[in-house]
Formats: sequence, structure tokens, C-alpha cells
Amino acid sequence: MKVLIIALVILSTSAMAAEPTQKRQQALKNILKHDCGSCHGLTLKGGLGSSLLAKDIANKSDDFLVETILKGRKDTAMPPWQAFISKQEAFWIVQKLLRKKDQEK
Ligand code: HEC
Repeated sequence: MKVLIIALVILSTSAMAAEPTQKRQQALKNILKHDCGSCHGLTLKGGLGSSLLAKDIANKSDDFLVETILKGRKDTAMPPWQAFISKQEAFWIVQKLLRKKDQEK
């Protein structure tokens, strides 16, 4: 029991800093392409959902974007993803989207 509590404390304090495992990163990339891509476009430049290109989201706060991914957006088609994606993972996705700036065509 004691070990479990210690493990939980360590997990929760390192949650934002730690990156998802390589395997999970690959799974998240697949989700981004296939699930998010179905609305935001395969190249994420927008479709039914808004553009997720770095230039279009850079002016919004990371927290706001993470919240949108986890909770969805009321009265829009954007669904909540918290059953599939943790806060740490949503944060990783946002950082990834923002870093894509260099690769834009
Ligand atoms: C069923 C369609 C749909 C799917 C699937 C979807 N989205 Fe969205 N998303 C939307 C729509 C529509 C909006 C725009 C909401 C609005 O008008 O404010 C949005 C908004 C967003 C925003 C906010 C953008 C901004 O500029 O404020 C983010 C970030 C986002 N989505 C990320 C994701 C991610 C990551 C996934 C996959 C895990 C995903 N979305 C899957 C429809 C979708």
C-alpha cells in the first residue's frame, strides 16, 4: 500500500514533464492522423474542424488547447478525448503541433 502511494505521488508530480513512451508516441501519432485527421484534415490544415497548423494555434495558450482536446468544445463537433488521452499526452500533442511550424508547405 505504502509503495503504491509513493508510486502515485511520483507519477503525478512527473506527469507533465515526462514524455509518453516511444510506443505510445506512435499510437498518438496514429490517433492524430486518423481520428483527429478525420475532422481536422489529414494534414491538419482544417476541414470540418479548424486548422491545427502551428501558425493557426500559436496565438492560443497551451492550457486552452490541452483543455479543448481533453474536454472537447461545447456546441461544436469537437469531442472530448479524456477517455483515450491523458493530460500529459494532450500536452505532448500540443507541443508536437506547435513544433510542426518548420515543416509547413
Ligand atoms: C468530429 C470532429 C472532430 C474530431 C474527431 C476532432 N476534432 Fe478537434 N475540433 C473540431 C472542431 C469542429 C473544432 C473547432 C471548434 C470551434 O469552432 O471552436 C475543433 C477544435 C480543436 C482544437 C482547438 C483549436 C483552436 O484553434 O482553438 C484543438 C486543439 C483540437 N480540436 C484538437 C483535436 C485533436 C488533438 C483531436 C484528436 C485527438 C481532435 N481535435 C479531433 C472537431 C473535431
